Amino acid sequence: MSNMEIPFALPYLDDEEVEAVGEVIRSNWVSQGARVKDFENALSEYVGARFGIATNSCTSALHLSLLLSGIMPGDEVICPSFTCMATANAIHHVGASPVFVEIDPRTFNLDPAYVKEAITARTRGIMAVHQIGLSAEMGELVRIADEHDLVIVEDAATALGGEYKGKRIGSLGSPTCFSFHPRKVITSGEGGMITTDDEAFAEKARIVRAHGASISDLERHFAKGTIYASYPVVGYNYRMTDMQGVMGVIQMKKLPFILQRKREICQTYDRLLSDVDEVETPYVPEEVVHSYQSYLIRFQSEYGIDRDGMIRQMAERGISCRHGIAPLHWEPYYRDLFGEMHLPVTEEVSRNTMFLPIYPAMNEDEIDYVISNLKDLIALSK
Ligand SMILES: Cc1ncc(COP(=O)(O)O)c(C=O)c1O
Repeated sequence: MSNMEIPFALPYLDDEEVEAVGEVIRSNWVSQGARVKDFENALSEYVGARFGIATNSCTSALHLSLLLSGIMPGDEVICPSFTCMATANAIHHVGASPVFVEIDPRTFNLDPAYVKEAITARTRGIMAVHQIGLSAEMGELVRIADEHDLVIVEDAATALGGEYKGKRIGSLGSPTCFSFHPRKVITSGEGGMITTDDEAFAEKARIVRAHGASISDLERHFAKGTIYASYPVVGYNYRMTDMQGVMGVIQMKKLPFILQRKREICQTYDRLLSDVDEVETPYVPEEVVHSYQSYLIRFQSEYGIDRDGMIRQMAERGISCRHGIAPLHWEPYYRDLFGEMHLPVTEEVSRNTMFLPIYPAMNEDEIDYVISNLKDLIALSK
């Protein structure tokens, strides 16, 4: 077997982004300007939402969304433990408590039955994470939220291009937050965006993202110093730069190709792994379109495959994999805060899952190399 070096992920960037960023720099308008607005328009139009509010990360987008949804100190917000630390941290940043509940063992998303069980007098919200690009069970979550008067914020960090029942993630009715970190579907280096149909919410989000100022940088610029901003609310500096904005615009043009190519790679992975009993490939429910931000396989526990050993041996053969998401209730900060918790499905999924490499420029030889080595190592482990 020839030796290859397969990275875990690669952003899909080329000279187009390089030239466009250079042009922005030469223009001297480098932050929260017209290119950011262009990106907001392109993304909100693509997902089918009226407004897009760009931020400097998905974490700040989540924080803003929770804040403007009225989540207060002392409230509880239900979320999965099988997610990025940013999901729970954003809840913590508004002074509320993340309440970790179980996931569905097939979709790795919140299990609505456990969400219902976790509701207390203090519960005010649900953070619906569309994990790894697969939509959460929104029909049931919205029904529970309506019944108990809860708000939903969607963490769609990984889910740009995903769909639920014929609608794109970002247009399902709750504030929805995307990430443009280099490992996400598209990238602007760092960056985030909220989509919403609610005009008042969008206006408040624009104000709070820019120190709480009553007028925007663009308005102040065009008024040539003749108007003053006032600061009626406490704000943050969550602004996006125009270098990021223009990268986002170009990445949006590439998005259909990125999604299509990653879908093809995942279908090939699915096919090549279909005869491997030890491995479960990603499950996609009917009426859901996966964005395939990542490809997560699960080793069937009865075969006793040492997942960490597998990652090590794949790395020795030049293939970069990653372990599945580590449960947040095991992380020192939340363990110290909440004490020992036990979420058996989350823990089992976390222990036995492994991400395979995936990126739009991956070719057929690289895909074959990943799978033939994986099969070889599984055979050797017996
Ligand atoms: C589910 C989820 N939420 C939030 C984030 C945070 O995104 P960002 O790094 O843009 O703040 C991530 C990023 O890894 C994520 O995977």
